Amino acid sequence: MKNQTFQWDTMTMGVCYYPEHWPKELWADDIDRMKEAGISTLRAAEFAWSILEPREGVFCFDFFDEFLDLCGWKHMKVILGTPTATPPVWLTESYPEILNADKKGVLLRHGARRHYTYNSPAYRRFCSRIVEQMASHYGPHPAVTGWQIDNELNCETDEFYSEADHRAFRAFVQKKYGTLDKLNAAWGTVFWNQTYSDWSQIHGPRPVLNDGDNPHQLLDYYRFISASALDFCRMQAEIIRKYKKPGDFITTNGLFRNLDNHRMAGECLDVYTYDSYPNMAFELERDPKTSRDLNDRKWTRNLIEVRSVCPHFGIMEQQSGAGGWASRMEGPAPRPGQLTLWAMQSVAQGADYISFFRWRTCAFGTEIYWHGILDYDNRDNRKLAELKDFYRKFQTLHPVCGAENTAAFALIKDYDNEWDAQADAWHRRVSRPSEKEIFAASELTHTPYDVVYLHDDTAPAELTKYPVVFYPHPMLMNEQRCRLLKAYVEQGGILVVGCRSGYKDMHGQCTMQPQPGLLQALTGTDIRDFTFASPNEEEICIDWRGKRLPAPVFHDILTPLPGTDVLAVYGGGYYKGEAALTERTLGRGRVLHLGSAFARENVVQLLDYLKIREPFKEWITAPEGLEVVIRKKNGRNFLFVLNFLDTEQAFELKRPGTLLYTGEIQTGRLSLPPFGTAVYEVP
Ligand code: GAL
Repeated sequence: MKNQTFQWDTMTMGVCYYPEHWPKELWADDIDRMKEAGISTLRAAEFAWSILEPREGVFCFDFFDEFLDLCGWKHMKVILGTPTATPPVWLTESYPEILNADKKGVLLRHGARRHYTYNSPAYRRFCSRIVEQMASHYGPHPAVTGWQIDNELNCETDEFYSEADHRAFRAFVQKKYGTLDKLNAAWGTVFWNQTYSDWSQIHGPRPVLNDGDNPHQLLDYYRFISASALDFCRMQAEIIRKYKKPGDFITTNGLFRNLDNHRMAGECLDVYTYDSYPNMAFELERDPKTSRDLNDRKWTRNLIEVRSVCPHFGIMEQQSGAGGWASRMEGPAPRPGQLTLWAMQSVAQGADYISFFRWRTCAFGTEIYWHGILDYDNRDNRKLAELKDFYRKFQTLHPVCGAENTAAFALIKDYDNEWDAQADAWHRRVSRPSEKEIFAASELTHTPYDVVYLHDDTAPAELTKYPVVFYPHPMLMNEQRCRLLKAYVEQGGILVVGCRSGYKDMHGQCTMQPQPGLLQALTGTDIRDFTFASPNEEEICIDWRGKRLPAPVFHDILTPLPGTDVLAVYGGGYYKGEAALTERTLGRGRVLHLGSAFARENVVQLLDYLKIREPFKEWITAPEGLEVVIRKKNGRNFLFVLNFLDTEQAFELKRPGTLLYTGEIQTGRLSLPPFGTAVYEVP
C-alpha cells in the first residue's frame, strides 16, 4: 500500500458487535465479558442507517450516543462503519433509481443488502449526507478509534447494470477515448457489425446470445466498475477525513473482484482490512484434483494478496464459528484449535489486528447460522474459552507487531490481465490454475512468496528485492511494462513466464507480431504453433533432463532464437521433442519461458533449479502438512509453524528457539497437536 498511514503499534484483538441486535440491558455485560477475554476494540453500525436516519432528512443519534458513551466509560474502542451497504427502505422505495439491476435490467429490490449502485447521483447525495452527519457527530467522540467505509465493497455483487450505470459507463469511455473512431478501433466493433455512430448507442454489457459479449468492451467495463467503487470510497473518505480525530484511521474491509484494491487503499485509506473465513475454502474449491491437500490453508493465498495491498493489515472479521445463511451454506463448526489456527494464519501473513466475527450469533435474519463466539443462549462456551487462550498467546506476540514477511520470490500480477481473464475464457483457463498451483508449490515446500501488482508507476526497486519473479501468463503487455521487466532482468533478476504470454495489447486485442509479442526480446523464443492440450490424447509431459513433469492445459511450441537454451522438451504429441522450457541470459539476469501452464510439480522443479526452495531450512525441517512462515523485525526472526491437519505433525527445530507463548526454549524433534500452532523467536 503506497503510504500506509496507520499501523497498529501493538497486537490488538477486536470483535464485531451489533448493539441494535440486542436488548440494551445486555450491552454492559457484553462489553465486560469482551474486556475480560482481551477484546479492546469493537466494530459497529455498518448496517444501521435506519437507526441514524429513520426518515428522510431526520437524524437521530440517541441510540449510538448511548452505546458509544458506554463504550467510552468502559474503555472499549470503537471502529464505526458507515451504513451505506444497506440503504433504508424509505430511500429504496422513494428513489428506486438508486437500485442496482441485473444484466437484464431487472431492479434488485429491498430486503437483502448491497442492492444499490455507486453511480446513482441520488445515492451519492444520500450517502454523502449520512456520512457527513455521522462523521461530524462522532468524529470527536473519545471512544472512536477508526472508521470503516461501507462494508465489503464489491462483495456479493461486483456487476452493475442500472440505468445510472449505463450512463456512467458511457461517460467513462467517452472520456477515455474522446472519439467514437478510437472507441470503435479499441473494441474492434467492425466484427459482427457493432460499429457505433453515436455516443447514445453505447451501453455497459446487456443481454446477448450465448454470452457472446465483446471482450474488449467487457475489459473496459471491469475497469469502469473499479473506478466507480473507488470514487464512491473516495467520496466517503474525504468527508470522514474532515472530522476524524488525528490518529484515528480510515479503512474498509476487502478484498473483492473488479476493484483495484491497491489504488483504493493508496488513495483513500490509512490501512486496509480483510475478512477471513477459511472455512469457505473447503466448499469454494471445485476441482478436487487441486484441492486435495490444502483446504482452509488455501486462505493463506488471499492473505498474501492482502499483504500486497497493505503490508501491515488488520482482519476486520476473523471466523470464530460455523458459517451459514438461512438460505445456503452448511459450514462445520471450527474444530477445537481451529479458531486459534485461523487467527494465527492471519497473523503469520502480516495481520496485527484480529477482530472476530461476531460476538454472538444473531437470533434472527438471514445470518442465523453465521455463528459467532457466543451462541444464542449467551452462555460461556468452548469458543469463548478458546478465544481467551488465543488472547494469551496473541499477547506474547507483541514483538512481532509490524514485522515484515520474508519471501523467496514474487508472483507478479496486474489488474488488466486479471480483468481480461474475466472477459476471456482462454485466458482464465490457464491463469487460474497456474496461480493456484504456484501457491500450492510454495505452501508445500515452505517457499513463501509476495504478490506484486504492476501499476503504471511501479518502480524497478519493487521487483529487484526478489531474486526470482513469476509472471505466469502476462497476455496483455505494453512497452512500459516490458521495459520494467527488462530493467529487472538486466540488473540480475530471474523472470519466469508461462504460455500465452505477450500476445495481446492493452485493449485485449491479439497483436500481429510473432508471439510472445513484445516479450520476445526478453524470452528469446518464437512461437509458430500452439494448442490446448488435447483431452483426446494421452497427457503430454515435459522431459526435463530425464524427469517427466506435467505440462497442463496449453502448449506453446517454443522455437529458441540464437542465444536461448532449451531446458526441457515436450515428451509426446505431434510436437514431441520440441522445446517446452527455455532459458536466456540477459544482462546480469535470466528469463525462463515455460510453454505450458504451471503445475505444482513443475514449479517445485523450477524452485529447485533456481535455488530458492525452502529458504528456512537452516532453522526447520517440516513436513508438507505444516505451514512455515518467518516475519522479521529489527534483526529478530519470528518463525510461525501452523498445523492445518487433524493429526499430530512432527518437525525438527534445528537451532534452539524461544516458544513465545511460554518463553520456553525448544530444539530438536518436536510436534504440534491437530490444528496446533507455535511461534518461535529463532536466532
Ligand atoms: C461478511 C460480511 C458480514 C457477514 C459475514 C457472514 O462477508 O461482511 O457482514 O455477513 O460475511 O456472512
